[in-house]
Amino acid sequence: MKGIVLAGGTGSRLFPLTRAMSKQLLSVYNKPLVYYPLSVLMLSGIRDILVISTPSTVPLLRALLGDGSQLGIRLSYAVQDEPRGIADAFRIGADHVGDDDVALILGDNLFHGAGFARRLQECAAAPDGCTLFGYPVSDPERYGIGEVDGDGMLVSIEEKPLRPRANNAITGLYFYDNEVVDISRRITPSARGELEITDVNREYLKQGRARLIRLSRGNTWFDCGTHDSLLAAGQYVQVIEQRQGVRVACLEEIALRMGFIDADACYRLGEQMRQSDYGRYLTEIAYALD
Ligand code: G1P
Repeated sequence: MKGIVLAGGTGSRLFPLTRAMSKQLLSVYNKPLVYYPLSVLMLSGIRDILVISTPSTVPLLRALLGDGSQLGIRLSYAVQDEPRGIADAFRIGADHVGDDDVALILGDNLFHGAGFARRLQECAAAPDGCTLFGYPVSDPERYGIGEVDGDGMLVSIEEKPLRPRANNAITGLYFYDNEVVDISRRITPSARGELEITDVNREYLKQGRARLIRLSRGNTWFDCGTHDSLLAAGQYVQVIEQRQGVRVACLEEIALRMGFIDADACYRLGEQMRQSDYGRYLTEIAYALD
C-alpha cells in the first residue's frame, strides 16, 4: 500500500499565522504539525509516501524530512500549484500509486488513542472499496458528515451540510483500493471549483463499498484548522506526553518500533538533537524498547 500526505492549501483560516509559513510546519507542542499525519501512515506500516504541497512549502518539507531514508521509509514530493481539492491528490499522485492501494491523510490531522495503530494495520492489510473514519463532533456543519447502517456501511454522505443528519464527522484519513485513481479522474469540480473527496466517497457508497469506522471513546482527533483547534491539539500532546511519559508522533521511535530502523540508527538520530528533550528521549529509548 502507498501513502499520500496532502499538505497543500493556503491555511487562510489561520491567518496571520500562515501568511508566511505553511500550516503543516507550525508547531503542535514540540514538533511540526506534519509529523502527526506522517506518523499515522508509518503506524499503518506504509513505507512509500508522497508528500504533496505548495511550490513554496515543498522545499521546506524536504529540508525537514529529506528522502525518509533516516526513518527507513521512502518520501517523495509533488507540487499542487493551486488548491484544487483533496481528490486532486490522486491525479497528482497517480504515478506514485501505480497499481497499488493507497491511504491518504490530510497534513493537518492528528489522531491518537489506544488501539488505533492496530486498527490502521488491519485497514492497510485488507483494503476493499474505501474505509473512512468517523468522529462525533458538536459542529457537524464544518465537516463531511456520514450516516452508517448497522454493519458500519456508509448510507449517506454530505459535505458541510447546512442541516446535518448526523454528527459523525468524516476525518481526513482515507483508505482506498486502486479504483480511487480512476474515480478521481471521472469526477468534476464542485461549485467551489474543487475536486471534492466527498464525491469520491459517494462513488464508493453507490457501489456499496464504503465503510465507516467510528472512532471509539478514548480516541482523539483534531484537524488543527483553526486557532483554537491548533492550540487544543498542542495542549493535548503536552498533557499526554508529560503525564504518561510517552511521545505522540515521535517519527524515529515509530520507525524503531515498526522495525524500519535499528536501535543504533535511532540512537544516532537522537544524538543529532541531543540539545532538546526530543533528542535525549530518542537516545534513552533506543536500546530500551520492550
Ligand atoms: C475536509 C473534507 C471534509 C472533512 C475534513 C476533515 O474539509 O472536505 O469532508 O471532514 O477535511 O479535516 P476542509 O477541512 O478541507 O474544509
